[in-house]
Amino acid sequence: MIDESSGKQEVIEAYRRRAPRYDLAVRLFDVFAMSGFNISGWRREAVSALGLKPGDTVVDIGCGTGLNFPLLYRAVASHGKIIGVDLSAAMLTQARQVVAANQWTNVQLVCADAAQFDFPSHVDAVLSTYTLTLVPDCGLVVSNACEALAPGGRIAVLDMAWPRYCPLWWRHVLFFLRSYGVTAEVLRRRPWEVVQTSMMELFQDFSVRHLWFGFFYLACGAARHTGKGAP
Ligand SMILES: C[S@@+](CC[C@H](N)C(=O)[O-])C[C@H]1O[C@@H](n2cnc3c(N)ncnc32)[C@H](O)[C@@H]1O
Repeated sequence: MIDESSGKQEVIEAYRRRAPRYDLAVRLFDVFAMSGFNISGWRREAVSALGLKPGDTVVDIGCGTGLNFPLLYRAVASHGKIIGVDLSAAMLTQARQVVAANQWTNVQLVCADAAQFDFPSHVDAVLSTYTLTLVPDCGLVVSNACEALAPGGRIAVLDMAWPRYCPLWWRHVLFFLRSYGVTAEVLRRRPWEVVQTSMMELFQDFSVRHLWFGFFYLACGAARHTGKGAP
């Protein structure tokens, strides 16, 4: 049986250690962009898939150090709103510094488990990059996001996956994954399948693009319901 609270503590501890050098590590990964492994390029695509307009409200689930914020800010402008949610106080400390350095006054940071986050109603978009794989209740996050979105509001999930052709022992070769909270338990759970299935059921115009030999995906959709998000 999975002990969720110890899994959560493991994630909090992993990102407490990672937080100060997280952005640098991401920049190092960007060196491999030429081989199609394009962490930041996919991030730009995910934000662009949200179709944001100035004045919109967007929730960034698992916002981490705020690497999506410059892109989101450019899209929603100073009269829009960005709500960043993360489990790790250490990652949010870094995000807070970015917000302060840029003098952004329209960014709200919330320290919470994504699965327990109480979405505000009528949000225009929900984004999650490289996070939902780490959330045991990722299906609940997708359905809560769907409830919160205004009709036509968009969701984009960019995350890692573990292709079926790839034996689980390969994770030992990709040893650094563990320091980002990606354990064997996470890979066995196959959360990317839960996210994609939930999105397919709940959203219209669902699309998924498999990236870099299937180790990543970008899934997008638009809300069609009249739930909490409807005016
Ligand atoms: C790989 S980082 C991604 C950060 C950021 N989205 C990015 O694209 O750089 C994963 C983030 O997910 C957060 N996280 C993990 N489990 C979470 C949960 N249950 N609820 C909210 N955030 C979570 C971690 O604290 C970490 O900041």
